[in-house]
Formats: sequence, C-alpha cells, structure tokens
Amino acid sequence: MSTQKPLVLVTGGAGYIGSNTTLQLLDAGYDVVVVDNLSRGHRAAVDPERLREVDLLDTDGLYRVLTERPVAAVIHFAAFIAVGESMKTPEIYFRNNLAGTLSLLTAMVRAGVKNIVFSSTAAVYGMPDVSPIPESAAKRPVNAYGETKLMVETMLDWFDRIHHLRGICLRYFNASGADPLCRAGESHEPETHLIPLMFEAIRSGKPMTLFGEDYPTPDGTCIRDYIHVSDLARAHIVAVESLLAGGPSNRYNVGTGTGYSVMEVVAAVEHVTGSPVPYSFGPRRDGDPPSLVADSSRLQGELGWKPVDSDLPRIVDTAWRWFNRDR
Ligand code: UFG
Repeated sequence: MSTQKPLVLVTGGAGYIGSNTTLQLLDAGYDVVVVDNLSRGHRAAVDPERLREVDLLDTDGLYRVLTERPVAAVIHFAAFIAVGESMKTPEIYFRNNLAGTLSLLTAMVRAGVKNIVFSSTAAVYGMPDVSPIPESAAKRPVNAYGETKLMVETMLDWFDRIHHLRGICLRYFNASGADPLCRAGESHEPETHLIPLMFEAIRSGKPMTLFGEDYPTPDGTCIRDYIHVSDLARAHIVAVESLLAGGPSNRYNVGTGTGYSVMEVVAAVEHVTGSPVPYSFGPRRDGDPPSLVADSSRLQGELGWKPVDSDLPRIVDTAWRWFNRDR
C-alpha cells in the first residue's frame, strides 16, 4: 500500500469525469473529499464518507469544507456541460459555471488554498482554422457553454496575478469510455454524447440521428478526437503534481491527436458490440465544427503525460461494458 499523499478537493466528483478522476486519485494514494450538489451527478458514484453536499454558490459552505482539513489542491469539475442547453438557457450556465467558480475561488482565497486544476474544453476554440489545434489557436467560442469556460480561464489569470492562486486549465476534447474495472462511467440525463447514444439505439432498436453527411471530411461526417476518460483522469493527476511541485499556471489541450469520423465510430461500435447501429442521417447540428483534433504536445512535453487507453476499440469496449453493467 502506498503512503498517504495530500488531500485533494474534487468539485463535481459525482459526475462522469470527476468520479473517474477521484478513483484514480485514490488509487494513486491521495486523500479525496468531494463537493457536489448532486443536481446532475450521481450519489452512488461517491463514497458517502467523502461526499459533502454543498452548492458552488454557497461560498461559506465551500470555505468550511476547505478548512475542515488542510486541502493541498482543488480539481474543479462541477459545471453544466450541454452545449445545446447553454444556447437555450445561458443564464443557468453563467450562474453555475461562472458565478459558481467565482464563489469557489473566493472561498479558496479565504482558506489560503492556492492550487486549482480546472475542467476547460475544446469548445473555447469555436470553429478553429488550424488542425490539429494548438493551445495558442484563436479562442472564439460559438456557444455559451464554451464562453463560460473561457471566462473562467481569464478569471484564473487574474487570481494568479493578484492572489498567487495557480491554475492549470485542461481543455478536454471528446471525453469517452469508462473505467476499465467498470467502477465509473458516463450516465448523463438526457444523454447527448455520440457513443452512449449509439448503445441506446442498439438497445431500443430506435434509429438515432447522425448530424450531417456533407461535411468537408473524407466520408462527409464530423471528425472528433476521442479521449478515454482514464487518460483524461491521469492528466488531472499530473497537473496536480505539477502544481504541488511549485509549477506555474498553464493551459493544456487533452486529446490524442487522432480524429475519427462519426462513421468510423459507427463501425467501431458495430465491431465491439456485434450489433448494427440503427441510424439515419439528419441535418447538421448548429455549432458543430467539421473537425476538432487536439495538438497535445505541450502536455506531453511539459508534464510527461501521454494517452495509453484511447484507441477507439478500447474506448468503445469499456463504455459498452459500463452501459451493460446492471444487465
Ligand atoms: N452526433 C451525432 N448524433 C448525435 C450526437 C452526436 O451525429 O445524436 C455527432 C456530433 O454531431 C459530433 C459527434 O457526434 O460530430 C460528437 O458529438 P458529441 O455530442 O458526443 O460531442 P461534441 O463534439 O459535440 O462535444 C464534446 C463535449 C462538449 C465539448 C466538445 C468540445 O460534449 O462539452 O466536445 O470538443 F465542448
């Protein structure tokens, strides 16, 4: 058994990426306390002894958790993540993602906690004109969700300059897959992500809609960089370790550098499950760039991270086992 490492506070630890990262922190010997209001997360995803049911807007409540025991770093996942919803009710995105993070940073400053790893997104780039996308590419979000994440990144710059609170922003590409031991995975309500929707179509027999077949890509469907949630979780651990070793604030893309089209994902899902995916083509979805592929050489070069679980069949296989876990 490894020696106990410092305490990390994980906000949104009852969600998809938060619960996977919490497991890996514990596996690596860290102590973890989770803050989640369970508005979108799942109670069953967290050890009840580690869970503190606190809303991000409750600054005093966050301060109490931050001062219960010395917290070395915060990993901040808690946020709303549905692009489409953010274009219908931006107010809840700005309140939860932006005001909620401001409340957290305020509590951290009061408690003297100076390290944060922040869940950012490839959505900060909007419709990029370079591929693969480096961190220096223009930031032009095309939806309110991406804008909230970019605004938090900017806020973090100022908290570093003024309060010396160091932040590493990880810009995720397409998080996918599940814990290989099937302890945690993706369960959104409603589900909007491609791979679990394919599983639902197989289970129900009801065709899903593939959004667009006339993109300027080899097979006409959108290309995305699918990153296994275990690789994503490991990126958070190397980011925490960098901050705890005194490393600077930074922003990193987290992806594989390889893109797959929607039709290539269909083929992978059919291969792994042995079932045809019922689908039909519909129009393009608003705000979908033709291709989003990460240049993650900065993360690989500076923090020594590399993806090891992200080949597409492994992503689909772990996600499929998670999808069928109760059956
Ligand atoms: N797609 C379909 N049909 C569906 C759902 C998705 O064809 O029913 C397609 C989309 O058009 C896209 C691809 O599958 O081309 C992936 O779509 P997802 O909704 O799974 O993921 P996105 O690429 O839209 O978004 C993800 C995250 C966002 C993040 C974005 C950044 O969900 O939070 O990556 O790249 F902002």
